Amino acid sequence: MIKGLSPALERILTAGNSAPSGENCQPWHFIVRQGTTVEVHLLPDRDQSAYSWGQRSSYLANGAAIENMTIAASKEGLMANVEYFPASRNKWHVANLAFESCQREPHPLAPWIKERVSNRKLYDVRPLSKAERNVLVAVGDERCAVVLVDDQVTLKRLARIGATNEEVMLGNRTLHNFFFTHVSWSKEEDNAKKVGFYIKTLELPPPAEKMFALLSYWPAMKILSKAGLNRVVAAQNASVNRTAAAMAGFLMTGTEPLDFVTAGRIIERFWLTATSLGLSCQPLTGMLFLALQISNDGMGPFTRREREMIAAQVQEASAIMDADDKHLGFIMRVGRAVPPTAKAGRFPLHEIVEIA
Ligand SMILES: Cc1cc2nc3c(=O)[nH]c(=O)nc-3n(C[C@H](O)[C@H](O)[C@H](O)COP(=O)(O)O)c2cc1C
Repeated sequence: MIKGLSPALERILTAGNSAPSGENCQPWHFIVRQGTTVEVHLLPDRDQSAYSWGQRSSYLANGAAIENMTIAASKEGLMANVEYFPASRNKWHVANLAFESCQREPHPLAPWIKERVSNRKLYDVRPLSKAERNVLVAVGDERCAVVLVDDQVTLKRLARIGATNEEVMLGNRTLHNFFFTHVSWSKEEDNAKKVGFYIKTLELPPPAEKMFALLSYWPAMKILSKAGLNRVVAAQNASVNRTAAAMAGFLMTGTEPLDFVTAGRIIERFWLTATSLGLSCQPLTGMLFLALQISNDGMGPFTRREREMIAAQVQEASAIMDADDKHLGFIMRVGRAVPPTAKAGRFPLHEIVEIA
């Protein structure tokens, strides 16, 4: 219990805090005013990497948190009036959620908020039914359309594109360092850090888990990359990605912060819908966010070869998804799988909520 917070609002904020975020960085802070309004603030220091140019990845995560809170409110007999970017001079103040009483049925996705999870296991290749496809595609709207790709040839291409991130990341000192400083090697370390990847959530087979410790040492990885090990790991990941029943692409109308917040809401609704259908999801976004960094910020920590490879892969993925003048902002693999071995942790609510 947090002093000054109603149990209903505490449950709503818990739902917000369980949203997905890049590297589980949880880039949000909630300020409660007058017991009924929640200010959602983005924490830019949580992800300063090339995977979040202009904090776009974190804006998306904040959108997912907002979506969870609006859905969870329905269970409390409340509805949220959402005002985006209410303080014109503060770009980190993402939204105000003003809750008011209303007569409504709980949202059908509300029970699935605590069940949603990133599942990096092998999926069972059984295709989606027509009904499942229709329900999932219908989640998209005019600001963020959903495209599902499930023919085997195209799926294989997207599986490879999704895994190119590992090839680049393992061969690039800056990205390698960023990734491995975000790996927790034990549950104790994960509980202490509360952000990043707990090793068990990566679903590595036991021999690969041992090798991972060696790969985390850059001088070793540098030599092994020269010998092509980064490409071997990417090929292995591509074969895992290929077990998806479908790949979902999210096409956005722009790349401004608000575009990512609203896309984050759609992506979370899609993920909850998939969860309610008994389907698993894993985002495969590395290439997309690196391309955004490169096209907006020039060189970054990349060699020319890496820049060209990233641009070519994202161009191919955008063409597959028929993006045209839209921005392909997110890709997820979707399919049937056994539950993940472990779940990512979160900061406790009292560390992320302030009562004003
Ligand atoms: C913007 C964004 C990008 C992400 N990119 C990836 C990705 O490329 N690969 C991946 O395995 N998970 C990715 N994720 C999932 C996060 O790692 C995951 O949400 C986080 O670790 C918390 O775990 P949970 O989703 O199980 O709650 C992404 C999530 C977000 C919001």
